Amino acid sequence: MFMQNISWKLLPEYPHKFEKFTRLRDNKNDAELITDFQRNIYEFYKTHKRPMPWRDIDDPYRVLVSEVMLQQTQVERIIKMYPPFIDAFPAIDVLAKAPFDKVFALWQGLGYNRRALFLHRCSKIIVERFDSVIPNKPDSLAELPGLGWATACSICTFAYNMPLAFIETNIRSVYLSFFFPDEKNVPDKHILPLVEKTLDYDNPRQWYYALMDYGVMLKKMLKNPSRRSAHHTKQSPFDGSFRQVRGAVMKQLTERGSLSKTDLCSSLAFSNDAILAAVMCLESEGFIIVNNDCITLKSDELAQ
Ligand code: ADE
Repeated sequence: MFMQNISWKLLPEYPHKFEKFTRLRDNKNDAELITDFQRNIYEFYKTHKRPMPWRDIDDPYRVLVSEVMLQQTQVERIIKMYPPFIDAFPAIDVLAKAPFDKVFALWQGLGYNRRALFLHRCSKIIVERFDSVIPNKPDSLAELPGLGWATACSICTFAYNMPLAFIETNIRSVYLSFFFPDEKNVPDKHILPLVEKTLDYDNPRQWYYALMDYGVMLKKMLKNPSRRSAHHTKQSPFDGSFRQVRGAVMKQLTERGSLSKTDLCSSLAFSNDAILAAVMCLESEGFIIVNNDCITLKSDELAQ
């Protein structure tokens, strides 16, 4: 069950040490147990806090950018890509005015490129409809392209210190380990009431940083704790995937602006069928324009 090199004292006793916390699933409000749980998380955080450039800042725009990047990409990679992105687009109106190919170029290396398009569209909507102020209501944020409910809540929490209950992968690992140590197929609807019940309402922002760091530690110590979630899915390998073909097509177009289908196919080491399927998909998602044989990356003006 355990990976090697366990460096932290709590985990060797897992799952017995956590058994008592399962009572919180039934008891309406056991203040002592809630405090005990919070103490565990905060104690770890005191000595293992991971500093990140998007934490403890009062700039909702930077929080928005980081939360979109963090949706599907590892922190280690974002730590490198986030500063140049913020240097190039230091405020929401700068991002909104930038041509998409520049935004896309700075997204390279983060993967899941559709998020770059969504973030760019979000910035335009926020400038136009919200007077350049990042909304502080999850309902308004969740309606923006690519955000979804969990990201909307995380933005409100980290940008505005709002006490909202939400679940992401590391948080899920913590709640599965403490409150469902022996269960399989646990749905988020069973976890969310516990997130709400145990939230540190006085300091939600620090609480969620601490929870996320604890979840990362659990993932290193235990064998994939979120596999017991009902929502667990394995990410398919990137090599040889359709995602890889799409990424390669977008990269070519970013570097060269526009290309004929023939030139595109001959410049990439994938089958023509896969490349043309990726082109159709990118066109329907609004990344590119296909005009007869000519494929063009959608520019800022065209994307309006
Ligand atoms: N700090 C702030 N937001 C985070 C996130 N989504 N994942 C990890 N650490 C974070």
